[in-house]
Amino acid sequence: MKFSKANRLRGEVAIPGDKSISHRSVMIGSLAKGDTVIRHFLQGADCLSTIACFQSMGIDIENLGETVVVHGKGLHGLQKPDCVLDCGNSGTTTRLISGILAAQNFSVTLTGDASIQKRPMQRIMTPLSQMGADIRSLRGNGCSPLQITGSPLHGIHYTSPVASAQVKSTILLAGLYADGETHVTEPQLSRNHTELMLSHFGASVRTEGTTAIVQPADELIARSVTVPGDISSAAYFIAVGILVPGSEILIRNVGINPTRAGILEVCRQMGADLKLLNRRGQSEPMADILVRTSSLHGTEIGGAIIPTLIDELPMIAAMACFAEGTTVIRDATELKVKESNRIEVMVHSLSAMGADVTETEDGMIIHGGKPLHGAVIDSRLDHRIAMTFAVTACCVEGETEILGAECVNISYPGFYQDLNRLTQS
Ligand code: S3P
Repeated sequence: MKFSKANRLRGEVAIPGDKSISHRSVMIGSLAKGDTVIRHFLQGADCLSTIACFQSMGIDIENLGETVVVHGKGLHGLQKPDCVLDCGNSGTTTRLISGILAAQNFSVTLTGDASIQKRPMQRIMTPLSQMGADIRSLRGNGCSPLQITGSPLHGIHYTSPVASAQVKSTILLAGLYADGETHVTEPQLSRNHTELMLSHFGASVRTEGTTAIVQPADELIARSVTVPGDISSAAYFIAVGILVPGSEILIRNVGINPTRAGILEVCRQMGADLKLLNRRGQSEPMADILVRTSSLHGTEIGGAIIPTLIDELPMIAAMACFAEGTTVIRDATELKVKESNRIEVMVHSLSAMGADVTETEDGMIIHGGKPLHGAVIDSRLDHRIAMTFAVTACCVEGETEILGAECVNISYPGFYQDLNRLTQS
């Protein structure tokens, strides 16, 4: 797909549902007793993989588009699937479902696409095994395909070496079935959607600092869920609005949970003109974001803010190329184990556009202000890389071609249409 420099972007965009919350609403809804109505569900390929997995385990899920209805059968209502469960490209599906499957009374094989078969699963296999789970990597390489045979589980106190909501959530979901309290401590607080949603469905969950604690549950009660817009998807419109001269975009319905909203802080630190309007919602707060073209300056990003903007770092790195001065991103080694090695891909692709960017052990250093030009960019079938470069292409001279551009369907099926509409207004 080809892209070129955009004139000013003006107008409004309504952001599709949050990917993390959409996954969790199907998973937790399936384990609850009764009907869970999910509004503004993300119809991205990853979330559809989660729906398909639970349908294969006997859960009746009606996908009506904006709304999904899950007819949950309770904590012990899943049935052995008669096929391998295919998690597609989704790390969240693979990891979180493993926590649930570890406690069922049947055995399952999980698989996924070529990317998922390279992503690290030892990080969930270790704590689940400590809880008593029978989980193994079929190729013995710590990756999917995984074979999981349900077993009785024990509560544990686990200290995770990485700040990962997927690791934390896997353990908390398994902890619902354990024989005692389960504690997960992480080095920094990662997104807390699982904790919030489990509480909403009646589980007993609390947080002490960076430790999440769950009690074994007798049952979960079906509740309705309205999914906020995904701030990780909004990030592309925040960036394009800031960078393309003369732009003003109102980005509607964005989830601003503080464990996700680090990009807002970084944009402000860099000098961006962002306003949060119409704040609403409680446990998962939302707002509309008004963004206007701004001149940016470099900044340093590291430490506890990293998990709150981990998926936005590719877009932030590209923004830094247009800022005056140097931006340093550190403490971000997790980027190497996402859908692609996002440090390597960003350094390679931004350099191809003429940027001054250097890879470091745990991030990158970007000297902003060099003029960028169009290039051929291989998305490596990583949705966030494709969207980052579609936006970057709007800000540079010459044509940019993105290979594998259709991979945005993973998290934002209408992305190019929304971007296009704003560039035409
Ligand atoms: C996610 C957590 C993050 C994030 C991913 C979604 C989640 O991954 O990168 O896109 O839904 O819990 P990690 O938990 O591996 O950091």
